[in-house]
Amino acid sequence: MTAQITKPKKFALTTPLYYVNGVPHIGSAYTTIIADVIARYKRLIGEDVLFITGTDEHGQKIQRTAEEKGLLPQDHCDQIVASFEALWQKLDIQYDRFSRTTAPRHQAIVKEFFERVWDNGDIYLAQQQGWYCVQCEEFKEKRELLEDGCCPLHPNKKAEWRDEENYFFKLSKYQSKLEELYKNNPQFIEPESRRNEILNFINQGLQDFSISRVNLAWGFPIPTDPDHTIYVWFDALLGYVTALLDPEEEPTLNNALSDWWPINLHLIGKDILRFHAIYWPAMLMSAKLPLPQKIFGHGFLTKDGQKMGKSLGNTLDPFELVDKYGADAVRYYFLKEIECGKDGDFNETRFVNILNADLANDLGNLLNRTLGMTQKYCQGSLPKMTATELPQEHSLKTIGLTLGEKVINAYETLKFNEGCEEILTLIQAGNKFIDEQAPWRLFKEGKQAEVEKILYGVLESVRLAAYLLAPIIPNLSSKIYQQLGFSVDFNQSDRLNEVIPFAHHSQWGKLAVNQGLAKPQPIFAKLDLPSEDNP
Ligand code: MSP
Repeated sequence: MTAQITKPKKFALTTPLYYVNGVPHIGSAYTTIIADVIARYKRLIGEDVLFITGTDEHGQKIQRTAEEKGLLPQDHCDQIVASFEALWQKLDIQYDRFSRTTAPRHQAIVKEFFERVWDNGDIYLAQQQGWYCVQCEEFKEKRELLEDGCCPLHPNKKAEWRDEENYFFKLSKYQSKLEELYKNNPQFIEPESRRNEILNFINQGLQDFSISRVNLAWGFPIPTDPDHTIYVWFDALLGYVTALLDPEEEPTLNNALSDWWPINLHLIGKDILRFHAIYWPAMLMSAKLPLPQKIFGHGFLTKDGQKMGKSLGNTLDPFELVDKYGADAVRYYFLKEIECGKDGDFNETRFVNILNADLANDLGNLLNRTLGMTQKYCQGSLPKMTATELPQEHSLKTIGLTLGEKVINAYETLKFNEGCEEILTLIQAGNKFIDEQAPWRLFKEGKQAEVEKILYGVLESVRLAAYLLAPIIPNLSSKIYQQLGFSVDFNQSDRLNEVIPFAHHSQWGKLAVNQGLAKPQPIFAKLDLPSEDNP
């Protein structure tokens, strides 16, 4: 019999390609952190992952920003791209591809795609009249605007009147095909609230949308009519396709789509749902290409309960946040505290309190005190026993035995907050267990075997928690694993599943006997409350 080699499952996911009108803000950091957690989880379980992020660099908004700074648009874009790359590094984001829409290879992909849609008869020339919000790069209905003519998303920028000849994409032709798509694939748009939003929108009847602009230099020309520039959204969505090309590969659609297409997950914020859940699949249908598997629209962040914005002066600078508190802390807060898919709030006092409670007190202290006791009572090496020796009704074992499955389910359904809560249940039970069992007393009474059992159960709980939290807090999990005697760095993604196989490590009872433990060192120093709460 020949051995069968099963190829790992493939998983391709994207963040939006961020506008480069300014340095990255907390909204872009939020989406990217979630995507990174998913990518890390998928790698940990042994899947082959392609994680795509990048920047959306064309259009009027970017052209104007560059002009205001007195820079050539390309120079402006290069500067801002550098700041995105720097932030992703600080936040330990392990992306595989950074797709820039100004890349020459992207132009080749856009041209070929446009020609397919053109050949399919889905593009025509007509007059476009309407109110354009440059900040959204989108036409708005009069009724969508505020009384003073600004769009509600950008209350200090007036929408501009446009009356010009544009090329249009026949979106209306795809009305029933899209309806069928949503009906047959209820999981195409998630969460359900976003799906309902799209169903309501499409029920009103879809209108064709313009995919070219005149009097705009910064973008790709329409292949059949170079006086027109391709609309920035038509160009940007295709950045996901260009990203699939290997670095030296000839930029053709066939090459781009041969390996990783269709993309499994487009992770986006709720404000750009229509583009991804309606325009994008219709464009792909027109080009006769398979559709992505899922569009997930997360919620918006507020600060101290208020909408964030430069005009309100309450923006949250992701660079400052990570410099002050570290990457793991920021990642943990956003994943644990906010239900992915719903809006969520950032409040610095709550941020500090949560991190101190969960990571410094519950997790960090548990490891520290238990390792300390192991040094004292067991000469610093792991008690010589296995998990099977613990009774079935052991309180930590009971939680530990089903934890892996629950947390896997949470990662798979993007319910990270629930996953974190489940893991915390074990940690908190570990603290309670050790307080109740008081191994220091048993040690004095000479009950060495009992002491060892207690310490083993608690250390195993910390190990399991650290493993399951690794996609979210990779640096803390590495420190915990290393103190437990494994030479593992969760940031080295290459062979993680070989070194610490998921099937083994995600389950209760895998701490090896006779493993040398390191000296206990605090893994997460308690944070100070922000100054106004800190007399
Ligand atoms: N360039 C387009 C995307 C093109 S994708 C082919 C774009 N860029 S963006 O930079 O404006 O937005 C990027 C992401 O940041 C979006 O997913 C958006 O939802 C997210 N956020 C912007 N502000 C946000 C919050 N306050 N909170 C959470 N996310 C928010 O749109």
